[in-house]
Amino acid sequence: MYGIIATWRMSLEGISEAADMLKKSADAGDSIETAIRAVEDFEFYKSVGYGGLPNEEMEVELDAAFMDGDTLDVGCVGAIKDYANPVSIARMLSKEPVNNFLVGAGAEKYAHRHGFERKNMLTERAKIHYHNRVKETTENTELKPYSGHDTVGMVCLDDKGHMTAATSTSGLFMKHAGRVGDSPVSGSGFYVDSEVGGASATGLGEDVMKGCVSYEIVRLMKEGKTPQEACDIAVNTFDKELKKRRGKAGDMSLIAMNNKGEWGVTTNIEGFSFAVATENEEPTVYLVKFDENHKQYFEVASKEWMDNYMATRTAPLVRK
Ligand code: GLY
Repeated sequence: MYGIIATWRMSLEGISEAADMLKKSADAGDSIETAIRAVEDFEFYKSVGYGGLPNEEMEVELDAAFMDGDTLDVGCVGAIKDYANPVSIARMLSKEPVNNFLVGAGAEKYAHRHGFERKNMLTERAKIHYHNRVKETTENTELKPYSGHDTVGMVCLDDKGHMTAATSTSGLFMKHAGRVGDSPVSGSGFYVDSEVGGASATGLGEDVMKGCVSYEIVRLMKEGKTPQEACDIAVNTFDKELKKRRGKAGDMSLIAMNNKGEWGVTTNIEGFSFAVATENEEPTVYLVKFDENHKQYFEVASKEWMDNYMATRTAPLVRK
């Protein structure tokens, strides 16, 4: 069995490429890297890679991670600037004996030393978003980041039972320089163990990190829970816990797959979408909905929804 699951509609093209590779017995590491790079390279996705929204100093700082579920190798970059594919840098770091998590200038030096592609990641479109946000903010209001965030996070299983997880994000729009979220943090933004399964998160990093939610899902799967049960327990319990202790919980959406290719998804927000492909299922985008009892269910995205999604992402932007 092979499979790949990923956060948000934006991962569809990437996981489709990965599914083609997995069908031909490609490795889970190569497949997931290809899938994440496709999202990083697409300039109209404004929360990942090229075209990602900048921090409050109008600089695009990117976080990414890669984990190998066989060896438990982890590689991560935080607040890296001017490199095209942070996930590939993270993957190379995962193979180092030490120095696996590099941030800022150190991560950039490493990427330069290893010949990774340099690129100005700030697009004209992202600059317009930045200027519009500054304009919307009156003199008396502090610049505030979005409360939630669209990180791409994926879990992949190949036909040899090898599993991987990876993430990539530009983090919160208008974040402070140097701010790093959950995405490159093992156990929070991602975790995978080929003997069990893996999970990955999107949402407000500051809150996801309080619960190590990805690790918690893998731990629950190891105890025998299905991916859906594990996601439900981990996300809903932690969401309640945050509300009890802090009065509110940030956006939190988790995807998981076990080493049989079974998957699960739980979110605490309206409007979450995800994409999945397995040996038994063509690449499909699902929307998460809630019924009148606030019980979550999944609906395959309609053609109209898909068309509208791309039209809104690529619509011309006007500087206010
Ligand atoms: N979940 C991505 C971030 O908070 O940066």
